[in-house]
Amino acid sequence: MEQDELKALVGRAALQYVQPGQCVGVGTGSTVNHFIDALAGIKAQLLGAVSSSEQSTARLRAHGIRVLDAADVDRLPVYIDGADEIDAQGFMIKGGGAALTREKIVADLADRFVCIVDQSKQVPVLGRFPLPLEVVAMAAPQLVRHFAALGGTAVLRAGVITDNGHPILDVRGLHITDPLALELEINQWPGVVTVGLFARHRASVCLLGTPGGVKTLVF
Ligand code: A5P
Repeated sequence: MEQDELKALVGRAALQYVQPGQCVGVGTGSTVNHFIDALAGIKAQLLGAVSSSEQSTARLRAHGIRVLDAADVDRLPVYIDGADEIDAQGFMIKGGGAALTREKIVADLADRFVCIVDQSKQVPVLGRFPLPLEVVAMAAPQLVRHFAALGGTAVLRAGVITDNGHPILDVRGLHITDPLALELEINQWPGVVTVGLFARHRASVCLLGTPGGVKTLVF
């Protein structure tokens, strides 16, 4: 099966976590696009969606799905999103699509994070995929030095400004054996808006797309 077919498979499978009469948190990316397309089929049962990016908002609205502001809800039963990497504990790297800040904000509102990925995203240790950070531009050179001290190489992502108006740093060369401790450390550095390490906001469930079907991993 092609990678996109596996993404479509888990996108459709995620519908089982959407409760009638409730709002759903919606992530960003090509896998989530399949979820949004599937969600359109049950939109009459939905109260609405809280979106993590302009891109997902546009797709939701194109399907006639009501989009609520994050500020208008105080909790969500579930947040559904993809990931760039996920490990055996449900810790993730996210932000390949530059939507990490709003993704973490919406994930924080949710009781459960359901991660939808094809099997290529499963790793034993996080860090093969460059770790994205949204940063305040003037802090970027100092943040590059902080990462160098950890053995990482941080580079500004060319031509990318987030929905919040900030650049993205991508950090290569990290071998993330303690995601909770690293997330905590990076969050102390001035100028970090959001680190794309989802450790405190790890997945509760992962729907993994494999050629043999969808595997459900519970963390
Ligand atoms: C968006 O910023 C990311 O966190 C995405 O969730 C991640 O890049 C997965 O994207 P795909 O579903 O397109 O692989």
